Amino acid sequence: MEKQEIRTFGRRHGKKLSARQQTLIDELLPTLKPTHGDILEIGFGAGEHVRDLARTNPDKIIIGAEPFMNGVASLLSAITNEQTNRVLDEYRGIRIWADDVRDFLRKTRSKFEQIWVLHPDPWPKARHEKRRLLSAEFLNTLSKYLTPDGEIIIGTDHWEYFDWICEQIKSTDLTATIPDMEIIQTRYQHKNKAGTDAPKYLILKN
Ligand SMILES: C[S@@+](CC[C@H](N)C(=O)[O-])C[C@H]1O[C@@H](n2cnc3c(N)ncnc32)[C@H](O)[C@@H]1O
Repeated sequence: MEKQEIRTFGRRHGKKLSARQQTLIDELLPTLKPTHGDILEIGFGAGEHVRDLARTNPDKIIIGAEPFMNGVASLLSAITNEQTNRVLDEYRGIRIWADDVRDFLRKTRSKFEQIWVLHPDPWPKARHEKRRLLSAEFLNTLSKYLTPDGEIIIGTDHWEYFDWICEQIKSTDLTATIPDMEIIQTRYQHKNKAGTDAPKYLILKN
């Protein structure tokens, strides 16, 4: 029997969606279901960074995975024309997996040039630590989905979680560097619930 996976995300539904958002979920989302891709972003929230990836990598397929349906609806609204509900040309490379990324990984045969994880839920209470997504086990899983030069790029403003991830990396074969980088601001970065000065980033390679 398969081991029961621990849930790494909070709620799947928030406030009621607008009529347009519901239409996009019902009619457009099924057409954007991914099979393969070049770049993966895990837990995209409202999708600001997925959109940035699509704009800066117009020839790539960008897969965003996010189980929070209000976030999925925000991304769908932002990538479509308000009158026609059609995907805008600059976002044509976006595909959306509206569920747990681990279910997608079990189905795909893709190898990714980049796998992004920005502001993963820090689950700060000790009794919730097992819910943290970026365990050594999951990082080892992700490492199998990288192209030979592929990178896992992690950003978090929760420095205790950052240190915890660094500890997890020691139980993997991945090599880590701490880059000096800046990316577009995501919703969680803006909220800065951890109250720290800036996000810290990690780049992991096989
Ligand atoms: C704190 S939010 C950050 C959202 C976004 N990256 C940002 O910076 O604004 C973390 C997100 O990761 C998502 N998440 C957690 N576990 C996940 C999983 N197993 N697969 C996909 N997304 C997941 C959650 O639903 C949540 O939206």
